[in-house]
Amino acid sequence: MHRGGEPFDYSRRAAEVLRHRFISDLVRALAPRPARLLDVGCSKGQLTLHLAAVPEFVVAVDLSRAAIRAARERLQSGGAGVRFVVADATALPFGASRFDVVVMSDGLHSWQLPAAERRAALVQAGYVVRAGGHAVLTEYLQPGAFAEFVSEVRAGPFQVVAVEYLHDRLWYRVESWFKAVRDWRWVERLFASVPVARLLGRVARLFGRRGSRHICVVARRAATD
Ligand SMILES: C[S@@+](CC[C@H](N)C(=O)[O-])C[C@H]1O[C@@H](n2cnc3c(N)ncnc32)[C@H](O)[C@@H]1O
Repeated sequence: MHRGGEPFDYSRRAAEVLRHRFISDLVRALAPRPARLLDVGCSKGQLTLHLAAVPEFVVAVDLSRAAIRAARERLQSGGAGVRFVVADATALPFGASRFDVVVMSDGLHSWQLPAAERRAALVQAGYVVRAGGHAVLTEYLQPGAFAEFVSEVRAGPFQVVAVEYLHDRLWYRVESWFKAVRDWRWVERLFASVPVARLLGRVARLFGRRGSRHICVVARRAATD
């Protein structure tokens, strides 16, 4: 039962907001100025909005035309310089070395591609990123699958330079407990609370990588072909 007002916008879930901030801070630290960024699988532009907050050249791609339409609307104010393209991550319509950083956030596995197509998407990312440029990949996985994901990235055209854990497992656990009543106003507030997400993250951190559902891999395109 919804307790009045607008339906909750799930892009406001605090764990997602923190993840998007984490990625955009990381990209900001990696990228030169001005940077050419590619956001693959941009969905409705929630992360793209964060990436566009710095004066960069951003291209955002999604397979879904409806998602691209929604992303364009979301970015209408404050997203100057963002170009939207409907495209498949396994067949990107860009030339070689066009970008400094490619972001595949909740990408390869979330897209539910078979292994061969995940490899193809990594090869495509390697092609469109300049030598010395970076890929930032996040994935929502069981902790037992983290090592395999890192190996998968390592097997592509990138060298893994850092692996980060987002310590958000407890947050997603709490979210699952309250899913049946997610439209209740106080539950919406709980889901949207960044301080609560930070607190749960501090507790989850005590469990190391097992306290995470999201892994973030930072990889660098080899400087020579
Ligand atoms: C889970 S959302 C990720 C949203 C965003 N990147 C984030 O981190 O919050 C996955 C998005 O990838 C898109 N997608 C699925 N398969 C794709 C493919 N093969 N190529 C490009 N985008 C794809 C879906 O349409 C969806 O919008």
